[in-house]
Amino acid sequence: PTIIFIEPDGVEYPIAVKSGTTARDAAVNNSVPGIDGDCGGECACATCHVHVDAAWMARTGMAEPGGMEANLLQFAEGSTENSRLACQITMTDDLDGLMLRIPDGQH
Ligand code: FES
Repeated sequence: PTIIFIEPDGVEYPIAVKSGTTARDAAVNNSVPGIDGDCGGECACATCHVHVDAAWMARTGMAEPGGMEANLLQFAEGSTENSRLACQITMTDDLDGLMLRIPDGQH
């Protein structure tokens, strides 16, 4: 499946990954700007904060961050109802084409 990260200015970073890869690993391994993933994907740093594109919010699980994830997101800058932590999004073939927007100011 392919994930598309989108910078606030509209620049897109399409990245093809294997199923089972987290969006955080895809971003960090491909040096997508603004997704630092400092804690290594442990749901502890919020530097992998993304906004799920509106068209994808209806997908299973997209609008339901886990408990720890929701707690961290409360404190993330620019948090919205579309906010997720990229390390908590695991790619599957169903999510091919997923668009994740990098929050403004997270550079
Ligand atoms: Fe730290 Fe996602 S990589 S919370």
